[in-house]
Amino acid sequence: MTERKTSPLTRWVAASALALAGAAPAFAQQGELVLYCSVQEEWCRPMVAAFEKATGIKVLMTRKSSGEFYAQIKAEAANPKGDVWWGGTGDPHLQAAEEGLTDPYVSPKLDELQDWAVRQARAAKFRTVGIYAGALGYSFNTTELAKRKLPEPKCWADLAKPIYKDEVQVANPNSSGTSYTMLATLVQIMGEQKGFDYLKALHKNINQYTKSGAAPARAVATGESLIGITFQHDAVIQAVGGAPVKIVSPCEGTGYEIGSMSIIKGAKNLANARRWYDWALAADGGQAVGAANKVSYQVPSNKKAPVPAQAPKLSQIKLIDYDFAKYGSSAERTRLLKKWDDEVSKLPK
Ligand code: G6P
Repeated sequence: MTERKTSPLTRWVAASALALAGAAPAFAQQGELVLYCSVQEEWCRPMVAAFEKATGIKVLMTRKSSGEFYAQIKAEAANPKGDVWWGGTGDPHLQAAEEGLTDPYVSPKLDELQDWAVRQARAAKFRTVGIYAGALGYSFNTTELAKRKLPEPKCWADLAKPIYKDEVQVANPNSSGTSYTMLATLVQIMGEQKGFDYLKALHKNINQYTKSGAAPARAVATGESLIGITFQHDAVIQAVGGAPVKIVSPCEGTGYEIGSMSIIKGAKNLANARRWYDWALAADGGQAVGAANKVSYQVPSNKKAPVPAQAPKLSQIKLIDYDFAKYGSSAERTRLLKKWDDEVSKLPK
């Protein structure tokens, strides 16, 4: 057999082609991840960028509110399109877990988490997990308040007073987990009858029910609305940005969220979904991104993750013993939202 002579250039081309052929499948294996993100867009984006950089996995992300993604995941159950649902209030995540719309996963990172985050996972038989916590409240624009010569609101009860007619903004509880947290909080503080009487009185003062939960905090910052009911950490973002806002922890006490994450049942990119899950719970991974980019003032669930100095201190807020099992249950969440639709939203102003 005669040995064929090849030039160095041919050998180099052949070697490069081989190397490329070897590299291509490895790169392709990193693949994609379809992420449903329920925090505000400003936080979703750096999370995606940091994960792509750490793993080489391409993330296809959409942002929608918690109630909207819950409904979408349910509608897509026969042919799931998303892999991970990251962020948003815990109640709809718990409802999705109960309805079998999400997949159980026990992350090796679970040991590093705060008790409240692990409790959330156990309650859902590991179909969800806590990723952050934050207290509900409201903020008002101090410049606008002075201009209108109105007293500072301090309690939930104040917001329903006629002096604040058309001055209050909050999201719609069907789309927004924030607003559903408010609904469930008021029912727990006042009892159902009085809670709904209050919501009807508050309705007269609402200038707009927004789709997303954090939007009223932005409206307060610009002076578009005098008062906005949101999580307190969403108003902190505006205060840190220099807006003339004051944040209120209502005098009667207030509810809180355990922001959660779930893997969608039937996820097409299951291995990548689990990589996101573990990374998102890691103190030096996803848990550090919000604080580093100044886009999140929640309390992170990993005990070793950095907590921004401006994050509201949950230990100093009068928090109610929010019953997540009850208000995150499918029957109760569905019933309360229907009742709000029937008895509150349709009322004339
Ligand atoms: C904001 C908050 C999160 C919360 C989320 C809920 O992004 O910072 O803590 O979980 O809103 O969004 P939603 O639009 O469903 O109220």
